[in-house]
Amino acid sequence: MVHLSTIPTNDEVEKLANGVKKVHLQLANDDDSFTTSVYGSKFAAQDLPRHEMPEGEMPKEVAYRMIKDELSLDGNPILNLASFVTTYMEEEAEKLMAESFSKNFIDYEEYPQSADIQNRCVSMIGRLFSAPVGPGETIGAVGTSCVGSSEAIMLAVLAMKKRWKNKRMAEGKPCDRPNIVMSSAVQVCWEKATRYFEIEEKLVYCTEDRYVVDPEETVNLVDENTIGIALILGTTYTGEYEDVKAVNDLLTKKGLNTPIHVDAASGGFVAPFVVPDLEWDFRLDNVVSINVSGHKYGLVYPGVGWVVWRSAEYLPQELVFNINYLGADQASFTLNFSKGASQVIGQYYQLIRLGKKGYRAIMSNLTRTADYLSDSLEALGFIIMSKKSGEGLPLVAFRLPPDEDRKYDEFALAHALRVRGWVVPAYTMAPHTNQMKMLRVVVREDFTKNRCDALINDIKSSQKLLQEMDRDSIKKQQDFIHKHHTAGGKATHNHPKYRVRSCAAASSPPRV
Ligand SMILES: Cc1ncc(COP(=O)(O)O)c(C=O)c1O
Repeated sequence: MVHLSTIPTNDEVEKLANGVKKVHLQLANDDDSFTTSVYGSKFAAQDLPRHEMPEGEMPKEVAYRMIKDELSLDGNPILNLASFVTTYMEEEAEKLMAESFSKNFIDYEEYPQSADIQNRCVSMIGRLFSAPVGPGETIGAVGTSCVGSSEAIMLAVLAMKKRWKNKRMAEGKPCDRPNIVMSSAVQVCWEKATRYFEIEEKLVYCTEDRYVVDPEETVNLVDENTIGIALILGTTYTGEYEDVKAVNDLLTKKGLNTPIHVDAASGGFVAPFVVPDLEWDFRLDNVVSINVSGHKYGLVYPGVGWVVWRSAEYLPQELVFNINYLGADQASFTLNFSKGASQVIGQYYQLIRLGKKGYRAIMSNLTRTADYLSDSLEALGFIIMSKKSGEGLPLVAFRLPPDEDRKYDEFALAHALRVRGWVVPAYTMAPHTNQMKMLRVVVREDFTKNRCDALINDIKSSQKLLQEMDRDSIKKQQDFIHKHHTAGGKATHNHPKYRVRSCAAASSPPRV
């Protein structure tokens, strides 16, 4: 409460200002080429350079602190339940990775051990996915490390397109209208792949009560121009596994040998441990290639993915570059040339450190936590859209039950949780599902039962708070948080030419 008598009149304000002018502020103004403390330096009183590279230098402690301070306004990765990407690795793994920061992975000649470690990972992952290994052979699958599943998918699509084109040309048939059959719920990298490589998308749409492809519909879309079928082992929207076996068996029944690529970005390191009997991989004859993100349930910090082909036959030789670089012959099939070796080394650490037993223990715990969260949310009245008991990824996709009197929606709840630091995305389901709104919590390695309970409590209190607010205040709060707490509202990182008009409620699905 401000007392009116304490508000100064205009005369008084002027007197006060003159008084302040007379006070001799003895502020330090030395040009401190030597600084004793970060916050006493001139840099702490200036804007950080934004557009022009500065002429002068700054001390390393200052640069470190200033950037670290700025980054503290980013979200806390541990509370980011939107992302599948690994946020925890053991210190030993971090140490190994940090020790390899300066290694360029592509310099096979200089770093032959790093290259060999990649081959060991490809071999282990190929075997995990049941790649056939011929008698007397040690390696069946061929493959490579990538920056993530997106690059892996680009490579797999290129290989399918090339094989289809070679076959069509050999038969003297036109090869200018390739298409790919896939779900409307694919991750954005599939849309990139089809646009960049000029391939028509033949989409199988989800419905209000089916969030994966219908196998029959999928196979019916196949024609002579189909380079392959993409199936997802754990969709980004609800985490549900598409029925690869059903599609494979229908193709066989119809006498078709259309190749299947499985996008196992997340499920590739979950299903083999939690539901080992589920047939989705190279056990099925039509599955020719699989991608998996090492940086998701592969448990490595971001930038590593893998693509494996069931055998060399499915990776056309013309796509593989045999280059002589710095004195050594090397085979390369990647979109990028140079990249750090750390992530590949981090993947090898996890594979041999944890072994199948370790991955099984972690993935089992995640599945239990996801089931616990799912049951708790169901008890609170939410509708659960994801599968339980290992029939899908360890995530919970849920929505509010229909209620005309409720003043808030899933987006308002996501925004209220954001105030507590949680990043739980709200989005609308894939096309043709009546703009159904939903929320999604990804259960990652560091999301323990204890943290899960904290989230459930915050969901309850956020709902209580929203219930007590009126519609206008909810909308105002939502707009404010969107504008000030999320990058979507600011979007200053986009060039103006490519900036989309921001909307108050982000409706696109989470992308990772
Ligand atoms: C099913 C699916 N495919 C592909 C991707 C892209 O993976 P990455 O982020 O590793 O490039 C994702 C990311 O979440 C995904 O969920």
